[in-house]
Amino acid sequence: MLFFFEIMIAFKKYYLVTSIILITVICLISLENCSQKKRANAGDVVQKQFAGSQTCATCHKEIVEQHLQSFHHLTSAFANKQTLRGDFDSANKFFFNDHLFIEAEKKQDSFYQTAYLNGAAKLSRPFNIVVGSGKRGQTSIYWFQNYLFQLPLTYFTETSEWTISPGYSRKVDFNRSITSRCLECHSTYFQEITDKNSKADEFSKTNFVLGIECEKCHGPALEHVAFHEQNLNEKTGHAILNPAKFSRTQSLDLCRLCHGGALTKSKPSFTFQAGDKLFDFFQQDSAKTIGEIDVHGNQYGMLAASKCFKNSEMTCLSCHDAHKNESTLATQFYVKCETCHKNSSHNTCKLATRVDQGFLEMNCINCHMPEEPSKAIMVIRQNETVPTSAHMRSHYISIYKDISQQILSVKK
Ligand code: HEC
Ligand code: HEC
Ligand code: HEC
Ligand code: HEC
Ligand code: HEC
Ligand code: HEC
Ligand code: HEC
Repeated sequence: MLFFFEIMIAFKKYYLVTSIILITVICLISLENCSQKKRANAGDVVQKQFAGSQTCATCHKEIVEQHLQSFHHLTSAFANKQTLRGDFDSANKFFFNDHLFIEAEKKQDSFYQTAYLNGAAKLSRPFNIVVGSGKRGQTSIYWFQNYLFQLPLTYFTETSEWTISPGYSRKVDFNRSITSRCLECHSTYFQEITDKNSKADEFSKTNFVLGIECEKCHGPALEHVAFHEQNLNEKTGHAILNPAKFSRTQSLDLCRLCHGGALTKSKPSFTFQAGDKLFDFFQQDSAKTIGEIDVHGNQYGMLAASKCFKNSEMTCLSCHDAHKNESTLATQFYVKCETCHKNSSHNTCKLATRVDQGFLEMNCINCHMPEEPSKAIMVIRQNETVPTSAHMRSHYISIYKDISQQILSVKK
């Protein structure tokens, strides 16, 4: 403890800052102690076995290649120079005040975030796993015993800079634990080994699968692979789930597991499997109005409020290919709209008589599914106190008069 008192005396003026670091260190130490006591009697263990996406390549080469480019695959990975975004050389500091900053550092092949107080390193933690493809941003997390913690700085792609991670206030904080629900949405599997008395979720450091891989949507596939390796002439798939054969609710529930907002779980994370009923695993959420649903992480909620969804058998697959990276295809989505809206049984655009077809098609989704600021993905930038939002595509398909007017006026 002497070490800490020395800091306190030396930096009396920055008492607040020092105590935050102090609390962080103490919390980490106490977590270490309690986790050692607990590990011996860790309770029920959920364990799953996977064949791994590489195995699928022998027989489903094209899908595997597409999937490697998808944001699902890229959404979590070991942190290294291939997977990490952000500047580690020059624009790599975030200043909290004149005396205190956090630096994103590279030492040989490892990466760290280090807090400096008056030029001296006070606390340093590694980038172990990176969460987020980097389309919008990347948050990194680190192991401490069996716990995972979030690093305080997040790389924010919209402005190409290090910012304070979403949900954090303007203080040095290395102590936010990562929940199994966070990992359930951003990976294929983590074996949870949390003890009943534990304050935070604990995970196996060896039994996990990063990225949202084939078997998250198709179920564990060891048996499928073994069968087809022995029966090379068999043309129908055995012992494997294909969401194309699901009911509408089953299909939506699979996507809704992660694109349905922050649900409250009633069973442990990672027990839901493709094909299951979502609300056997989560509590039914209370009805929200469209203004309360965030564009981030709840495409289902937005879509479900739309007339298109209510008056048809629409699922996410009406517009999306779950294997492909479609991020450069925005202007081509109108084809999906026209599968219903060109057909005489549905309405076509009211503007069709006034505006030429090519222009309508190019801007179809910009007028009816505009990008909006998220209330959940918000980060604090260097010299700002008010958080900046990431912009997300609204899945509330509707008539946006003002936005349409703006788009039309640019044409003229
Ligand atoms: C030894 C060859 C082989 C391997 C390895 C293999 N599959 Fe298959 N799979 C097949 C065959 C053959 C079919 C049936 C024809 C088709 O649908 O392509 C099939 C069908 C499927 C289907 C569609 C099933 C249906 O009911 O329509 C899915 C989904 C699938 N495989 C997923 C996977 C995944 C995921 C992996 C890797 C974990 C994998 N496969 C590995 C041979 C293989
Ligand atoms: C295990 C959780 C999970 C499941 C299940 C899941 N997704 Fe996702 N999905 C994500 C995450 C996380 C991202 C964001 C990845 C990133 O950019 O880091 C994402 C991204 C996407 C994107 C955006 C790609 C882009 O261009 O930004 C689409 C489209 C998408 N998912 C569709 C679907 C559909 C359709 C289904 C159902 C068949 C589905 N997802 C099932 C978690 C999931
Ligand atoms: C985010 C969920 C998701 C992931 C991840 C995913 N798939 Fe699929 N897969 C689907 C859906 C949904 C369908 C049904 C497609 C449809 O109906 O349009 C499907 C269909 C298939 C089929 C049936 C043939 C076809 O093209 O329709 C095969 C084979 C398949 N997937 C293999 C794979 C393999 C191999 C991987 C990993 C490299 C993978 N999938 C990853 C959701 C996923
Ligand atoms: C309910 C599922 C869910 C949970 C829980 C969740 N996320 Fe996400 N996250 C998503 C989805 C879906 C996206 C991409 C699309 C969107 O934002 O709507 C996303 C996007 C992100 C992105 C931006 C990725 C990119 O480049 O576009 C980051 C970073 C991220 N999440 C980190 C986290 C972290 C860290 C946690 C836990 C502390 C977490 N998320 C919890 C579903 C979830
Ligand atoms: C699966 C079929 C289907 C698809 C795909 C579809 N819609 Fe619709 N949409 C409908 C139905 C059904 C309605 C209700 C009115 C009707 O019958 O035309 C509707 C209504 C609408 C409305 C009127 C909304 C309102 O609040 O008055 C707009 C605008 C619209 N759709 C735009 C789109 C756009 C843009 C796309 C593509 C991004 C799209 N739709 C894709 C079926 C669909
Ligand atoms: C009527 C067509 C349509 C349907 C149905 C639909 N989407 Fe989308 N989705 C789009 C379009 C268009 C985009 C924007 C593509 C772009 O900008 O690159 C998009 C983008 C996304 C993104 C990326 C968001 C962002 O801002 O980067 C995610 C995630 C996503 N969709 C998930 C889903 C899920 C999950 C479902 C089912 C609940 C779904 N979508 C149903 C048309 C649709
Ligand atoms: C420049 C913006 C803009 C573009 C581009 C555009 N729309 Fe519209 N759309 C509107 C506006 C505004 C209305 C409402 C007009 C009114 O009520 O007078 C509308 C109305 C609609 C309606 C409802 C018609 C009804 O009878 O209630 C549908 C369906 C629709 N659009 C589909 C589409 C589709 C599909 C595309 C792309 C192929 C498209 N729109 C392109 C702005 C646009």
